[in-house]
Amino acid sequence: MDCTLGAGGHSAGILEASKPDGVVLGIDLDKSALEITRKQLADFGRRLYCRHGTYADLSNHLGAIEWGCVDGIILDLGLSSMQLDTPERGFSFNKEAPLDMRFDTSQETSAADLVNHLEEAELEKILRDFGEEPFSRRIARAIVRQRPIHSTTHLASVVVKAAGTRRKGIHPATRTFQALRIAVNREMEALEKGLREAVKNLCPGGRLAVISFHSLEDRRVKQYFQKESRGCLCPPGQPVCTCNHQAVLRILTKKVIKPSMEEIERNPRARSAKLRAAEKM
Ligand SMILES: C[S@@+](CC[C@H](N)C(=O)[O-])C[C@H]1O[C@@H](n2cnc3c(N)ncnc32)[C@H](O)[C@@H]1O
Repeated sequence: MDCTLGAGGHSAGILEASKPDGVVLGIDLDKSALEITRKQLADFGRRLYCRHGTYADLSNHLGAIEWGCVDGIILDLGLSSMQLDTPERGFSFNKEAPLDMRFDTSQETSAADLVNHLEEAELEKILRDFGEEPFSRRIARAIVRQRPIHSTTHLASVVVKAAGTRRKGIHPATRTFQALRIAVNREMEALEKGLREAVKNLCPGGRLAVISFHSLEDRRVKQYFQKESRGCLCPPGQPVCTCNHQAVLRILTKKVIKPSMEEIERNPRARSAKLRAAEKM
């Protein structure tokens, strides 16, 4: 199961490797990505099923096509290159576009809604929690003063004025855009539920692989894997276990896997990727 089908790179790889009869269910929140990828991978015929929706509803997607447990699940988190490179989707601060950032364009709330309607304190919290933005307070205040803000470039210029340009390596608006995207698409909630759903729906011996692109996500995946690979979770020193927690995962990546220099040269957007994998016991 490819929970984040995108342009179908992983699904194509899995279908190639599982020839002649391996099957993949690919899901994505982005209807336009599904349409393009369905056409691009048409040669795999009925070996690829595509469904629109969130991986947080993984059980429902499997139920809808009457599949039981699955042998492998991949989550490749965040946004795709296709989305980043389509200016009108509003994910990039380099091109003038409406402040949108929705993976699922049938969803009501966009980034413009958050930027223009949230209280200053709520905006600050989003920037701090989801962007780990050290100037969250200053930026939130500037956003509230400058509203309404309806375009990506307008928001970027407000951030640059508030936070300054003295940052090593990254554009000053990077963290703000990341934070808003995570909030608009409720990415951390989806990850939380998606991990639980994935483990529940793996067959024994089945494998879960998660690729994350920032520390917030990676920390969550690491903690979840650690917790589910342990038996009793009672405080140390408690004489009798009362939690009855049982280990369900065996961690396969003792250390997180990062792309090689050669891969980063070939695909610079992979530079912050971190892969963790585990097997269902
Ligand atoms: C990093 S891209 C995946 C790229 C893909 N592996 C490929 O080979 O092209 C992440 C994809 O996940 C989708 N996505 C994000 N959150 C999702 C969710 N909760 N449920 C389903 N799809 C989601 C995005 O729309 C995007 O297309």
